[in-house]
Amino acid sequence: MPNEPLYLRQDVQVEPLVDQWYAWSHLIPPAVTARNITHRHLRIIDSYVSAPAVHAAAARNSRMFGGPFMDYGGERVQEIKALRARTVQSRRALLDLSAALEQLDEMLRTMTDGHSLEPLYASVPDLLRGYVELVYDIRHNATFRLIEPLLYRSHYYDRSAQSLMLSITAGDDRPFVLTTPRLESADSVHLPWSFDDERVDRLFRLKTVPQSWTWIKDRLGIPDANDAVFRSFLTPEPPEPYEPYRGTGVRWRYFGHACILIESRGRSILFDPVLSYTYESHISRYTYADLPDRIDYVLITHNHQDHVLLETLLQLRHKVGEIIVPRGGSGALQDPSLKLTLEHIGFPRVRELGELETVPMEGGSITGVPFLGEHSDLAISTKLAYLVRIGSEQLLFAADSCNIEPRMYQHLHATVGDVGTLFLGMECDGAPLSWLYGPLVLRAVERGRDHSRRLSGSDFEQARALVNQFGCRAVYVYAMGQEPWLNHVMRIKYTDESRPIVESNKLIDECVSRGIAVERLFGEREILIDRVVDRVADLVAVPVL
Ligand SMILES: [Fe+2]
Ligand SMILES: [Fe+2]
Repeated sequence: MPNEPLYLRQDVQVEPLVDQWYAWSHLIPPAVTARNITHRHLRIIDSYVSAPAVHAAAARNSRMFGGPFMDYGGERVQEIKALRARTVQSRRALLDLSAALEQLDEMLRTMTDGHSLEPLYASVPDLLRGYVELVYDIRHNATFRLIEPLLYRSHYYDRSAQSLMLSITAGDDRPFVLTTPRLESADSVHLPWSFDDERVDRLFRLKTVPQSWTWIKDRLGIPDANDAVFRSFLTPEPPEPYEPYRGTGVRWRYFGHACILIESRGRSILFDPVLSYTYESHISRYTYADLPDRIDYVLITHNHQDHVLLETLLQLRHKVGEIIVPRGGSGALQDPSLKLTLEHIGFPRVRELGELETVPMEGGSITGVPFLGEHSDLAISTKLAYLVRIGSEQLLFAADSCNIEPRMYQHLHATVGDVGTLFLGMECDGAPLSWLYGPLVLRAVERGRDHSRRLSGSDFEQARALVNQFGCRAVYVYAMGQEPWLNHVMRIKYTDESRPIVESNKLIDECVSRGIAVERLFGEREILIDRVVDRVADLVAVPVL
């Protein structure tokens, strides 16, 4: 039946790629991408090619999870070599840009002494001239700021390095994205589309709006050679229709990690979107089919790969009203603008929100809340917690905020008052600085310092102080990286003795002993706050089992 209406199957995995590496938010901004190519991708490739068997063993050893090991079982070495050759050839400009950033840093280290920086512009590496401003901090250390919008408009931003890899998936086991590039296979389709291509939206709309094969092949431009495999991604079976929440209160649903959907009064807000595909599993979960046709606001808390998942964001782009991100734009290498990143992958409406700035919405508001810590003490401003007010109910989505300074929350409480529901990550044993920021740190960091500067969220004492400060009636520990469908971006394996588990258990015990509703979220969860009234004391949270 050539005109039979066909949907995109819910188990079709679509991995966005840059240079055939899984695309995350540090593979879009030109300077940050350059550093990741030279100091992550090429280093891992060279290491794999020289000792594939070592990588094969380490990549499957749970004690080395998250380490710099490629997960191809020691095989496909020739293809990895070919990928290296292609990268060096096609990304010459970024390889040179990466080196120029180091030269600039070295020049600033050796040629400045607190005098004017103006004479140094002539000595800035030619590739960077016009793209940087030289500045002192207030202790007269010289540094630079990148003029990011111009870099995006230059040849350093190359959309042709972007592509999508489609395949059927049947489980949660995927290679770690920071260490394993994606190679082609007979059952995958590799489409050379840039992320801002409108065919991306056409593709994902097919999940809920069917089209004929003729339409699909023509409007997506599927090459004849891919017909058979691509047709296997389609089905005449419609997905289960979505039932929006029509009650008078608030319904929130936990999709895993920090991904939570709030629905109230016909409005929907989705935090840090991370979706599993739909397949048989012993862990039940909400998936794409559990999202409304339109999502009014997507809110992003910070620029870590488990909170800005391009794979999920691209699937949702066509149904998102506005995407709200923390204000950035400082031009610091380690702090690329999320607004620019998302705009360049095709999001037309991206709004930056600052600390204590508010977006009004029907019957409530969204307010940006300072987010301290969890970024290895680097000067990174692109991070924000969110306070959502719906009627009289206030919910604080703190993500990985680390309560390193309780006085900040004292000041905040004086402004915003009590918070009924707190969502808090407690990944208090975070990775060292170099794990995520190594490519962006232009001078090597000594091991002791590296390990003291971690990407850690709140521990028990810090979390308890937060709960006390805001007089919370319900506390949900989330963003723990425990759902297996996060494995490919997190590589976290906890045991009962792991500090995040021990510390969050302490918080749970403490809350239980004080009559505060508490859970460590896992898999899926739905909660209705069925009465939203004027007096906070009248609120009743009713869990739906
Ligand atoms: Fe984080
Ligand atoms: Fe996180």
